[in-house]
Amino acid sequence: MTTYVYQFRPSQYTATLLQVIEQQCLGRRMTSVLDIGVGSGVLLAALAKLGAQQLWGVDISEAAVESSERLLAATQPNIPRRLLIGDMWSPLPVEQDFDVILANLPHFPALVSEKDRPPGWTGGDGRLLIDRFIGALPKRLGRSGIAYFTHHDLVGYPDTVRLLESLGLEYRSVLEWTVFESPERISAVPPEVLLRNGQGLRRYGDYVFANSRILEVCVKR
Ligand SMILES: C[S@@+](CC[C@H](N)C(=O)[O-])C[C@H]1O[C@@H](n2cnc3c(N)ncnc32)[C@H](O)[C@@H]1O
Repeated sequence: MTTYVYQFRPSQYTATLLQVIEQQCLGRRMTSVLDIGVGSGVLLAALAKLGAQQLWGVDISEAAVESSERLLAATQPNIPRRLLIGDMWSPLPVEQDFDVILANLPHFPALVSEKDRPPGWTGGDGRLLIDRFIGALPKRLGRSGIAYFTHHDLVGYPDTVRLLESLGLEYRSVLEWTVFESPERISAVPPEVLLRNGQGLRRYGDYVFANSRILEVCVKR
């Protein structure tokens, strides 16, 4: 049985988040961990390898949840898992909190999707999922819990900082890198978004580069 599903293949964002959790979560107490937008399940598999004792994953796509189920059944059969179909936090038990929460949600601020990716991987309006993700962190992070999520700066890093601070969350940018954005993707971004959030873009003719980062978040202690 193959666990590789082409549609759900990891992206550069997945790989970078993987690099961060391999560095930051090694030796960490991880009773329960969560990946919102679990996709292939590969990040949960990595947390399991790093010692997580209970795996939780949520995805709006049934096919993604099936794909995660296959991967975890094959690679981490003895670690309890709850893989739930649904929208963001809604399928989770109300009182459940987590030691580690991950998210690599679609958030490029334009309606573009690669033809060989599921339609749910399009960026939409950029902030919608990220804001809903951040908004629930104070309640869902355990006292010593930590969250890591991917962030494309075209959604507006200052807006993200404002939201985190308004919720009393501590944050740091753990890793930053430059990403190439094709003319198709850049031309799909609404002009007002480019005007508001495009200061970090570098243009060389039609070649455009943007900033991305992984943010680490915890509740102020
Ligand atoms: C970019 S993929 C990331 C998958 C995986 N975590 C990874 O890093 O490779 C984003 C995932 O978020 C899921 N998703 C999109 N909207 C969602 C929502 N409203 N609630 C839960 N999951 C959602 C998509 O189906 C997709 O599997």
